[in-house]
Amino acid sequence: MLILGIESSCDETGVALVRAEGQALPRLLSHALFSQIAMHQAYGGVVPELASRDHIRRVIPLTREVLAGAHQSLQEVDVVAYTRGPGLAGALLVGAGVACALGAALGKPVLGVHHLEGHLLSPFLSEDAPEFPFVALLVSGGHTQLMQVDGVGRYVLLGETIDDAAGEAFDKSAKLMGLGYPGGPALSRLAQQGDRTAFKLPRPLLHSGDLDFSFAGLKTAVLTQAQKLGDQLAARKADLAASTEAAIVEVLLKKSLAALRQTGLKRLVVAGGVGANRHLREQLNAACARLNVRVHYPELHLCTDNGAMIAMAAAMRLQSQPAGAKGLSTTYSFDIKPRWPLAELA
Ligand code: KG4
Ligand code: ZN
Repeated sequence: MLILGIESSCDETGVALVRAEGQALPRLLSHALFSQIAMHQAYGGVVPELASRDHIRRVIPLTREVLAGAHQSLQEVDVVAYTRGPGLAGALLVGAGVACALGAALGKPVLGVHHLEGHLLSPFLSEDAPEFPFVALLVSGGHTQLMQVDGVGRYVLLGETIDDAAGEAFDKSAKLMGLGYPGGPALSRLAQQGDRTAFKLPRPLLHSGDLDFSFAGLKTAVLTQAQKLGDQLAARKADLAASTEAAIVEVLLKKSLAALRQTGLKRLVVAGGVGANRHLREQLNAACARLNVRVHYPELHLCTDNGAMIAMAAAMRLQSQPAGAKGLSTTYSFDIKPRWPLAELA
């Protein structure tokens, strides 16, 4: 079975082809990505209307590229998968519209995929794929969640952020330090030259006893610190970046370890854009090695949004429900879900 996946929920257009044979782990044949970062940079963040228009420009050429890269023709595609939500409404409409048009033209079913399920299952695209069950730390630009994952579609929410996501904390702190968009990678690069203990920043909810997160206060503390530094900010920016990163990473680390303790599981999967963070990976690797916990990440280039994770999530859904995956449709009347809690999938 050949599955075409289309991702267009935010600022990257991603297309991929995955092949699923029986119950074997689906294989990525090819994928292509166009990042809109350069276009949005001038505005300091994603401009939704510009994002939708650019997805329209990119999605068909990327689809052609992916088919050519895998030496497949469009007619050989069995299912067209697309990101149904959550995300920017206009941006989602582009991927959904194109997927449904392709499905209708080919006479093949379409499958709307949950973007976070794509992230969650993206480590299955790596050489060292995980096995169920595991604890998942899902850290994207808009979400910070800990989940117990017992199988495809079997997700139990253990804790989540009550305000900003970790990715937002990176982005907002970076922005107020003048590091531009997207802030996470820029802040993390600068942090490598700084002293992580230079500034005492809060570790919100670290000792709350539950698995929830809160990062809004941290951003305010970074702002206060930046204002206090005044003219010295330029000279101390790397130290402030390093201290901010240390605060975010420590909370993510401690809560992940608490989730492992609470569930008794010995496997951790990290997914979403912040999973690309080097300091987070180093800290998790060291702690998990001590505790005899296996930790899995998506490949670095598949941490942020891409089409491969959407095709993969669709393939794994189809395998787990061979009689017909929930959401598989031949009516081609797509309805996107800009807001869509992952729990509704179960
Ligand atoms: O998963 P993703 O691509 O998009 C969403 O679904 O939201 O995540 C994007 C987020 C942004 O907040 C970005 O700043 C952050 O991931 N990010 C990073 C790094 N790379 C991406 N944060 C920290 N360190 C990184 N290396
Ligand atoms: Zn994402």
